[in-house]
Amino acid sequence: MVNEIAPGQKVEGLFCVSSKALRTTKAGSPFVSLTLSDKSGQIEARIWDNANELAQGFEKGDIVLVEAEAVEFNGQCQLKVMKVDLADEVAVDPAHFLPVSSCDLERAWRTCKEAMKEVKDVTLSMLLREIFGDKKIIHAFRHAPAAKKMHHAYIGGLLEHTANLIDLTRLVLKKYHHLQSDLLLSACLLHDLGKIKELSWQRPPIEYTDEGRLLGHIGIGIEMIERACVALGIDAGNERILALKHIVLSHHGQKEFGSPVLPMTEEAMVFHMLDDLDAKLNFLSGLKEMRGEHEDWGWSDYQHLFERYFFLPPTKKDNGVLENMPTNPKEKADGGPIQPSLWRDDEP
Ligand SMILES: [Fe+2]
Ligand SMILES: [Fe+2]
Repeated sequence: MVNEIAPGQKVEGLFCVSSKALRTTKAGSPFVSLTLSDKSGQIEARIWDNANELAQGFEKGDIVLVEAEAVEFNGQCQLKVMKVDLADEVAVDPAHFLPVSSCDLERAWRTCKEAMKEVKDVTLSMLLREIFGDKKIIHAFRHAPAAKKMHHAYIGGLLEHTANLIDLTRLVLKKYHHLQSDLLLSACLLHDLGKIKELSWQRPPIEYTDEGRLLGHIGIGIEMIERACVALGIDAGNERILALKHIVLSHHGQKEFGSPVLPMTEEAMVFHMLDDLDAKLNFLSGLKEMRGEHEDWGWSDYQHLFERYFFLPPTKKDNGVLENMPTNPKEKADGGPIQPSLWRDDEP
């Protein structure tokens, strides 16, 4: 990894080309100036020999296999590249370049499989089997992030978020027995599935695909459900499918957050609230991490999305005591009301 490289080392590894420029030395010889990165950081690199030839084999954004020697230049560690080859995309593990969920993803996947088995309604069960019978979908579902930056924005984020919602749904069902468990569990598994096509994460950074920007994960998810229904010969007007599609369409809770309809069934209301809860708590976890180690409670930076500061607990293992409460932060930022939307994080 980049953060382990020290001058004097021979380096052989996979890196993402973050920048690439063909330049000329004062003596007139061509060389390539590169910035190489992985999830631990980035490092400057130079190709001095065969610069023109080697530069033709890759572009900015490519994943490359590099052989190099680490040297010290102007007090900084730099790579002198001897060999550079395009990496085999299939063999590249995105977790090498992007942060990964810290939850137990195997357990999360087991939770999802158990939920699928638990669905007894024939139509919904058939639908889940049809969709998750596709190995490519399973692979993408187990690796995709749930967002570009706002919540669960890391490899395995979608799986973590889905398993969390299944756990939360089970808690709610213990108290509210009349809710339709098959419908809620199916919604947990399918509501954000469109993210596997909405986002790209095979190479850094996490980005929206063209399809993702144009259709959004709700639109893509509905398309996936409809396609599976056609394959299964399920009538488009089937009331189970209608109820499920309503939850998928309404799960963002408001039209300005991308839901074309508002939640209008009990299950849709509950589902939106659980989805909102998990997304917001994950967002706050990210804020706590950004705060780093602190022995006392403290304020986050101003969060425009929520129009507030957050008062966050100590982040050292030994729980701090709430004392010497910090004075209230500066005035609230100006500007009109900004509605919090964790679901539309592609705005500049
Ligand atoms: Fe969503
Ligand atoms: Fe969600």
